[in-house]
Amino acid sequence: MIGKPESLTKDHLLDRFDCGKEALSIWLKKYALQSQNSSHTKTMVVTKGDSRNVIGYYTFNVVSIEQQGLVKHSIPVFLIARLAVASSHQGKGLGARLLRHALISVAYFSDEIPIRTVIVDALDEDAKQFYEKFDFEVFPPDTMRMWLLAKDLIKTLRESSDVYSS
Ligand SMILES: CC(C)(COP(=O)(O)OP(=O)(O)OC[C@H]1O[C@@H](n2cnc3c(N)ncnc32)[C@H](O)[C@@H]1OP(=O)(O)O)[C@@H](O)C(=O)NCCC(=O)NCCS
Repeated sequence: MIGKPESLTKDHLLDRFDCGKEALSIWLKKYALQSQNSSHTKTMVVTKGDSRNVIGYYTFNVVSIEQQGLVKHSIPVFLIARLAVASSHQGKGLGARLLRHALISVAYFSDEIPIRTVIVDALDEDAKQFYEKFDFEVFPPDTMRMWLLAKDLIKTLRESSDVYSS
């Protein structure tokens, strides 16, 4: 059975993780824990059965971005910095489940911090198509940055709740 997402710790086994995209596999194996220990990012992982072998993860951070209006001001946004599933487990709903877990965290945080949006920097066209399925939209045009506004977040969570458990 595949476990619930949990915080990455030094006890997780990462050596065998391969999602088919080298940059995302190497990040998990070499940098994710280090980045978490220095409070730059947080990584949630899933394992299968009693094994500590990681088969999927996402890394997030709350960042501040500048918004232009009548007055220039900064707003907090939830950045999904990386999300990946081991090749051997792709196509079985795990990516959707990880994304849903991240979005539930946003809904939870937004009681404490006024987070209005979720952003991702899609790695490539494949990743873009994956996020489009969950209502993320590219902005500015012709970039890899994608946005999900808070109003759409609730809708996306509702639509996915019957299919995937958190
Ligand atoms: C992209 C990725 C996270 C998807 O995870 P997954 O577990 O294979 O996806 P799921 O099985 O949960 O699929 C959920 C839905 O997204 C769709 N989907 C999955 N990958 C897709 C892709 N590359 N393009 C378009 N749609 C995709 C599925 O068809 C499914 O749709 P459905 O519910 O209508 O059937 C995974 O393939 C992966 O890790 N790829 C390599 C790393 C990567 O590109 N990460 C992207 C973030 S930078």
